[in-house]
Amino acid sequence: MTNYDITIHTRDRQRVSFVCSEAEDLLSAAERENILLPSQCRKGTCGACVATVTAGAYRLGEVSTEALPENAQARGDVLMCRTYPQADLILEAPYDYDYIRFERIPEREAEVIEVTMVATGTRRLLLRLQPDEQGGTAEFEAGQFMEIQVPGSDARRAYSLANNTNWNGDLEFFITLRPGGAFSTYLESALVGDRLNIRGPLGTFTLRENGLRPRWFVGGGTGLVPLLSMLRRMADWGEMLPARLYFGARYEDELFCQEEIRQIQDKLPQLQVKMCLSRPGNQWADYRGSVINALRDDLSSSLSVLPDLYVCGSTRLVQGVTELALSQGLPDSCLQFERFLSA
Ligand code: FES
Repeated sequence: MTNYDITIHTRDRQRVSFVCSEAEDLLSAAERENILLPSQCRKGTCGACVATVTAGAYRLGEVSTEALPENAQARGDVLMCRTYPQADLILEAPYDYDYIRFERIPEREAEVIEVTMVATGTRRLLLRLQPDEQGGTAEFEAGQFMEIQVPGSDARRAYSLANNTNWNGDLEFFITLRPGGAFSTYLESALVGDRLNIRGPLGTFTLRENGLRPRWFVGGGTGLVPLLSMLRRMADWGEMLPARLYFGARYEDELFCQEEIRQIQDKLPQLQVKMCLSRPGNQWADYRGSVINALRDDLSSSLSVLPDLYVCGSTRLVQGVTELALSQGLPDSCLQFERFLSA
């Protein structure tokens, strides 16, 4: 089998290199050398691992055109989880060097402690890590995710964590049930005491230290989950930066974690919250309309300091917020986002 040299230039002009065989995708090859590049779904559907090939030949496996439109493919953009080299490659990544982690991804076993329905179509899953030689602590950064192996198969699904690092080893997830989805099907009959294999933490959608810039969090559906983790971290650390949360859903019965958000507001009184329903009932007293419209109203009112935007939701939501933010003069560097995935 032929091996090729892969070189990635980051946005801040640093360089990372590794070796990849013709049969391996770039993301997996980097991981084998303990180089963790930004990624999420690992199946060509989220767009988190996008980069641009500037030299060399490659084969692109099956990708979603939502994650990588045909015009982007034509200019050399690739999804690294679906890219197989056919020569030495040079790529440009759309992120800085400090978004890359250099470590082995931990794999652990965890026990199901609780599975409950918390809103229409959404379940809360609480896992507890089994103690190993590292102990039983759950250590991760607010906003990161874990991959959970679907019982009885090799498939893994990525889910964001809603809680924060803790000594108990607790990992809290809120998962949207997808009809026929592999992990959703398992969740329908999951039992307390089941053991699951998990891998992580992973992901670079985490809080940035940007001085006193306000933080605005925008989440659609279970896109709220990593934002909840970030807000809980701010609450635990007593971070009094100006902050806003925009949480969008279609119907009121799809909203979840309302009590948890109120508890965060008790600790972060500066946090302004807008619950946005695109199909509200007559009695709905908060924002009536899409989360993007709510954000547009607030971004267009004069702001003395530009906020950092943390966005998590569907591809449509992320794209809509990105276009809106850029049209309102927010620089790229103010935007952090993660797309919500079906599973
Ligand atoms: S990680 Fe490659 S497209 Fe999602």
